[in-house]
Amino acid sequence: MKTTDLHHHTASESYAGAEDLPGTKPLTPQLNAMLVGRQDLHPELSIVRVRPDQGPVPPFRPGQFVTIGLLDAPAEHSPPKLALRPYSVTSAPDKREDVELYVNLVREGALTPHLWTLHEGGRLYLKPTVGGTFTLDEVPNGKDLVMVATGTGLGPYISMLRHFRGKDRWRKFVIIHGVRNVADLGYRGELEAAAKMDANVLYLPTVTREGWPGLQGRVQDVLFTDLYPQCAGAPLSPEQCHIFLCGNPVMVEAVESELVARGFRKHKRREPGNVHKEAYW
Ligand SMILES: Cc1cc2nc3c(=O)[nH]c(=O)nc-3n(C[C@H](O)[C@H](O)[C@H](O)COP(=O)(O)OP(=O)(O)OC[C@H]3O[C@@H](n4cnc5c(N)ncnc54)[C@H](O)[C@@H]3O)c2cc1C
Ligand SMILES: NC(=O)c1ccc[n+]([C@@H]2O[C@H](COP(=O)([O-])OP(=O)(O)OC[C@H]3O[C@@H](n4cnc5c(N)ncnc54)[C@H](OP(=O)(O)O)[C@@H]3O)[C@@H](O)[C@H]2O)c1
Repeated sequence: MKTTDLHHHTASESYAGAEDLPGTKPLTPQLNAMLVGRQDLHPELSIVRVRPDQGPVPPFRPGQFVTIGLLDAPAEHSPPKLALRPYSVTSAPDKREDVELYVNLVREGALTPHLWTLHEGGRLYLKPTVGGTFTLDEVPNGKDLVMVATGTGLGPYISMLRHFRGKDRWRKFVIIHGVRNVADLGYRGELEAAAKMDANVLYLPTVTREGWPGLQGRVQDVLFTDLYPQCAGAPLSPEQCHIFLCGNPVMVEAVESELVARGFRKHKRREPGNVHKEAYW
């Protein structure tokens, strides 16, 4: 199943897959996990941790997503509904006591407004399986990995970096993170520290809606200008680079088209290429 299918098919639907709590009427989907951490970066952006009640998070690979569910406030005489949404895992796969997620509030959304009312100890549903193919599984060792994100699309790269750093998995790991405001640069401290300690890790945050001393403009203004070779010390070449695109779907499509025009190939399971993508909506 494509991730987008999962997203659309599960939007706000009444949840039929979860077990029901014994003896409750009307039947209520079972909330099988707890919010065990939340770090609010600003009022609309958080890093949360979710712990399943029954043992560790299932095994996953960096770049994959979990699905969480939250009950809406039921109207009188109607059973509560569980909104289910996928979220990329930011934690490393060797830490499976809980799962870390990087989430922004969508005010008109079905799930995130409920997540924003949840405190540590709050109950939610965590699907007991993980999914997704936005991983390094089909990427050879020794490449320049160019990880492009807008907003919370940074998440998968955090898990990849936490897991593979120092293991000779790549020649360079270049993160280009496009955000509106400096306050949206989640994981900035961790990424700056990683780049400082490891010459093969580059962190290139770029901001669109306020001035700051760093890079200014959209991710394309870094990727498709002289800035990329200047910062990376190597050209953006289809021979040496694999590009990952994650976040805003308009950015993902626009950057993919430009890469294809520059000789890159979309990655498909039966037709391996060097452009990998995950659109968040
Ligand atoms: C594979 C996959 C992984 C994802 N991982 C993450 C993640 O790690 N972090 C994260 O924050 N989101 C992630 N998303 C998006 C997430 O699943 C939800 O769609 C999002 O949190 C909004 O949920 P909602 O129910 O509140 O709003 P929805 O009812 O789902 O969305 C309402 C509308 O808001 C817009 N929208 C949806 N998501 C976003 C968004 N993130 N930013 C801006 N506008 C949006 C769309 O136009 C959508 O129609 C992922 C999506 C997919 C498909
Ligand atoms: N971040 C905030 O401060 C803020 C405030 C209020 C509400 N929200 C809500 O939070 C949600 C997500 O916001 P977000 O800021 O994380 O995501 P976003 O709107 O996708 O913006 C993130 C970054 O992506 C850029 N971008 C947008 N379209 C692009 C494209 N086609 N190509 C390349 N880059 C593109 C934006 O640049 P531009 O600035 O040029 O668009 C911005 O730098 C939304 O629902 C939003 O309403 C966020």
